[in-house]
Order: sequence, then structure tokens, then C-alpha cells
Amino acid sequence: MKLQPLKIGKHIIKYPIFQGGMGIGISWDNLAGNVSKEGALGILSAVGTGYYKKMQFVEKIVNLKPFEAINFYSKQALIELIKNARKICGNAPLGVNILYAINEYGRVVKDACEAGANIIVTGAGLPTNMPEFTKKFPEVALVPIVSSAKALRIICKRWKDRYCRLPDAVVVEGPLSGGHQGFSYEDCFKPEFQLESILPQVVSEAQNWGDIPVIAAGGIWDRNDIEHMISLGASGVQMGTRFLGSSECDALAYREIMPHITKEDIVLIKSPVGYPARAIKMGVLQRIEEGNAPKVRCVSNCVSPCQRGVEAKKVGYCIADSLGAGHLGDKENGLYFTGANGYRIEKIQSVHEIITELVKD
Ligand SMILES: Cc1cc2nc3c(=O)[nH]c(=O)nc-3n(C[C@H](O)[C@H](O)[C@H](O)COP(=O)(O)O)c2cc1C
Repeated sequence: MKLQPLKIGKHIIKYPIFQGGMGIGISWDNLAGNVSKEGALGILSAVGTGYYKKMQFVEKIVNLKPFEAINFYSKQALIELIKNARKICGNAPLGVNILYAINEYGRVVKDACEAGANIIVTGAGLPTNMPEFTKKFPEVALVPIVSSAKALRIICKRWKDRYCRLPDAVVVEGPLSGGHQGFSYEDCFKPEFQLESILPQVVSEAQNWGDIPVIAAGGIWDRNDIEHMISLGASGVQMGTRFLGSSECDALAYREIMPHITKEDIVLIKSPVGYPARAIKMGVLQRIEEGNAPKVRCVSNCVSPCQRGVEAKKVGYCIADSLGAGHLGDKENGLYFTGANGYRIEKIQSVHEIITELVKD
């Protein structure tokens, strides 16, 4: 099977592979820039941009953390990130991942458009008003992430009624993916919610609305997996975990951690965002188990479902602080997400090697 280029809105991606947005500071300028340079789609994470370059773009820092959402999702840092990614990939399409559950979602979407994003990808909630914030940027392609055909139906109906537009593509993410899941803890293990089951349903729903490309995500590892997804109706794939084992990954600690973890180290945990999340049993998770986790004190006000730390106190950790510590390489207090395939990373490869391996016929 020959891989076909992917058209997302006005943008052509040479190889039908998205590198999934990974925060905090995992897919930033170096990773996303290099993935786009190699002909796939690099996607920068907009989460916690305030942490970029030792917080030098942040106006107020409290307890060594960006203060409030305005600094945690720093516009200036996002502009710098895109500028620096462009130094690597030139004018190749570049995406930005912005979670719907964040505080100031609309402002961050506008920031990303102004900073020069070509494609915006949004998960963690149903982004029913996403086009509201991109009206001045009709060339920016919009891609929601869903975990069911029903979710896609709701989004298409709302967007068509309110904004006379449809998604330029949709990512369907199954429960083997890294980070937050769009399912309850129990449903993550049920056969009917696995990617192979939900993908054909989402493909059929997408066809009801016209020609919306469907991108499959969650547990995709090699060329065989890519071809399997395409045979089930996908136009492309999104991969995250595979790039945790790349030398360009912007969170340096992953290079040391990934080659040493086992299947048993990968767990589904509770998160203040309100969904289960897949992570490595280490850092802050270990400290919670030992009963000496850092005290939760909300500084960054990152996601609305957390209600300034109310949910964080319930689960025992602050997601902004813990992912921020992970990005900074603090292995004692950091939170390290991974997909179910994380244990398969045996060695660190360059993005060039990974993409070459995935696309060669
Ligand atoms: C470390 C890590 C962090 C992630 N962070 C985000 C995120 O901030 N936003 C998001 O939409 N998805 C996030 N994801 C999901 C990825 O973008 C991607 O869809 C998913 O990992 C695909 O599954 P795979 O890891 O099995 O390839 C994250 C995944 C990982 C592994």
C-alpha cells in the first residue's frame, strides 16, 4: 500500500501522519518543527507555553510557576514557539493542539491563529464553538478530536447550523493513547470502545457530512498499524508515544525514561481534568503512593473542570505543576504521560529515522 498525501482544508501534508500534540513542553518547536520538516504534520502543544525557555516570556511567576491562565498559556511564548518551529520546517504545514477544557480556550485559539498556525486540533471536550474564534482566519483548518460517532455528529450539526462550516478533518482517538482518555475508566478496557470498533463508526458518520478525512489515533506504532487503520477507512493516523522516543522530543527526561520502562509501569490514573489519563508510575504518582506528594496550591488556574484546585486536591496532585515539573526534568515531582505502547521504545531514534521507517514502501 502506498501512503497518499493528506489534504486538510487548504493544506497538503505529504505523508498522512500527524504527530499528536503533547503537553507540557513535549511537542514544542524542536519536535513539531522536525516532524513537519520530514513531511508529516508537526503539532505544537499550547499547554503551559509559559514554561517555554525558563519562563522568560511570562509576566508574573509565583512559587516558580506561571501565574494564572494568562501567563500559563502565554501568547508571547506561543509566538516564539511557532517562529522557532518555522526556522526548522519553513512553510510546511504546522499544527497547534489546544485542549477545549483549558481556561481562556477562545483567547488561545486566536493567539495560535495570529502566531501563524495552519491547523488547530482540539480534544478534551466537545469544541462546539471552535469556529467562533477563527472567523478572521478562514485559511486555518479546524480538527476536533472525538471518541465516538455521536460526538462528531453533535459537532457537525452545531458547526453547520451556527457557522456554515464543517471540520476540515477529525481525529478519532481510542483508549490506548497517551494522556487523557475520552472514556470512563471501565470503558477503556471494553472491546466496543477500542479504536478498531469506533473508527468505522466515525468514518461512516463523517461520510454523512461530506468528505471529512478521519485520522485514527491511539496505539499506532508502525507501518503495519498505519495500513490497518487505512484499511478500516482512516485517511491518516495520529501518533504520540512513538515520538516520546525521539531525540527531538522537547521534554528531555523522556529520552532517559522511555527505554527503561516496562508494561507494568504504565497505568491509568485519575486526573483533575475529569477523565482518566495514562501515565508512567513514577514521580508525583510515586509520591502520592508514599504519602508525601507536594501540597496542592493552585497557581496557574489551568483547566476549568479543576475549579482552581478543588479537583486537584481530590486526586492528590496539580496537573499543571506536575506536567510542568515533568517538562523541567524533575523526576521526583513530575508527571509523565505515555500511551499503552510506551514500553516498546527500546532506543532513541531521530525524527528522520522514525518517519523514514514509517513511510518507506
Ligand atoms: C506524553 C503525552 C502527552 C499528551 N498530551 C496531549 C495534549 O496535551 N493534548 C492532546 O490533545 N493530546 C495529548 N496526548 C495525546 C496525543 O496527542 C496522541 O493523540 C496520542 O498519544 C496517540 O496515541 P499513541 O500515543 O498511542 O500514539 C498526549 C500523549 C502523550 C503520550
